[in-house]
This record gives sequence, C-alpha cells and structure tokens, in this order.
Amino acid sequence: MTDAAAAIRERAGAHAAPRVGLVLGSGLGALADAVADPVAIPYAELPGFPPGGVAGHAGRLVLGSLAGVPVAVLQGRAHVYEGTDPAQILAPIRTLRALGAELLLLTNAAGSLREEVGPGRLMAIADHINLMGFNPLLGSNDDRVGPRFPSLRDAYDPRLLAALDEAARALGIDLAEGVYLAVSGPSFETPAEIRAFRTLGADAVGMSTIPEVIAARHCGLRVAAVSAITNLAEGMGGQALSHEQTLASAAEAAGDLQRLLTRLLEDLTP
Ligand code: HPA
Repeated sequence: MTDAAAAIRERAGAHAAPRVGLVLGSGLGALADAVADPVAIPYAELPGFPPGGVAGHAGRLVLGSLAGVPVAVLQGRAHVYEGTDPAQILAPIRTLRALGAELLLLTNAAGSLREEVGPGRLMAIADHINLMGFNPLLGSNDDRVGPRFPSLRDAYDPRLLAALDEAARALGIDLAEGVYLAVSGPSFETPAEIRAFRTLGADAVGMSTIPEVIAARHCGLRVAAVSAITNLAEGMGGQALSHEQTLASAAEAAGDLQRLLTRLLEDLTP
C-alpha cells in the first residue's frame, strides 16, 4: 500500500477500487469528463505524485466508472522534460496497482514515421524502443512490488492488442499498429534523428509512456497503449513542429480514441 493509495481510500471510499487505470496524454484529457459518478483528486494532494503539469494536462486523478467498469483516470502526466523525478512517474502507476487495478490503458500524442499514417489517426502500440536515456526502475528494487529484472516481452498485452483491433473494426476506426520510440524531449527531433529512428524500426515517436509501461509491467499490470498521431515526424511534413499543433491535432483524434477505449472497456469480460 502506497501512502497515496491510503489517502485515496480515505477520500474516495468505495470509489477507490478501480479495475482499470487510464493515463490520458496531451490534449486527450476529455475522456475523464465521461467518467460517471466521479471523484476527482488533484495530484498535489497525493503523496509522491508529480505536482504540476504542462499545457494540455490537468494533473488530477478521477475515480468512477466508464462503460460500467470501475476506473481510475490519471488526467495528465508528468514528463521527464519537466525535470520530474522518475519516482514521481512510478508512484501513480504503483498506486493504481495498490488500489487493485489489473489493467493499464495509456494514451499519448505522437509523431508518425509512416507517411500513410497521418495526423488524426490512431496507432496501437505493439512494442517500444526506449531512447529516453533512463529507466524508471534505476536504483534499489523493492522486491514486494516486483522483480529486479522484469521481462518486457509482451509488454503490450497481446490479448488486449487483439481486443483493441476488434473494437476498432467494430467501430469502423482505421487503427494502425506499430513500434513507439520515446525520447526525453523537450526539443522535437531533427530530420536526421527521424531517419535514424525509421532505420531502427520505429513507427511513431513521442516523449512519454515508456516509463509508465515499464513501471506497470514491473508491478504486474497488463498494459495496452494507443498513440494519437498528431503530425508526421520532423522532416516529413511541410511545417516545423509545435506544441500548439500537437494539441490541436490531438483534439481531432480524441473523439475516435474515446470511442475506442470505451468500446474496449465494454468488451472486457467481467
Ligand atoms: N515528436 C515527439 N513527440 C511528439 C511528436 C513528435 O513529432 N508529436 C507529438 N508528440
């Protein structure tokens, strides 16, 4: 039990028993507004959680239900480019696990390295390449939480990937699938880096998600993740990239993303 989990139980009572955790990325926070019977707690009131956020990030935990499934939504995430201590990335994920969550669904905004997967499309993450320059599990290991050397084979749960694919098909959403590569940011990539990342096998690039996935697999959460493609990666499109454009394009993809995740939740067997 983390200190934050105890604080959440005290605040939220029966609401503090999520089955599924969700992490909403840049410009993708609207799904939290669809949570029924919500109890919202600002991160600032939760021990170990990251205190602040950047534009497009609310920074609060919303407990309630979506599609009849008890959920805990992390609305807004801390990034390493803000100087966030990796421990503050671990804490929210471990707290969801301590509250009893079994699954973690993550979303992010990402640039596409594939011409045919343009802005507004969604990509299910099938695997990742960590070029962030750190691992959130560096340092001493708490053996009660998970093993020293966790496996990342099937980090993105094959059954959840299949369920995402099925949900997308049922909704008529053209869901791509690929490898997500993360850098620390905050600068966008150079065109040369994008060419190199394509050679490495990346399909999309972003600045988040991988630390949370590692934390989640370490503590035994099953994971699925979806990128909202907000732009073609640097050097592939006409304009230089900007955060404003990321947020505007994320809003375009947000509707499909909300429908997709809601359907996935509906399809989860009890
Ligand atoms: N690069 C890195 N992060 C991003 C991008 C990108 O092109 N688009 C949205 N987040």
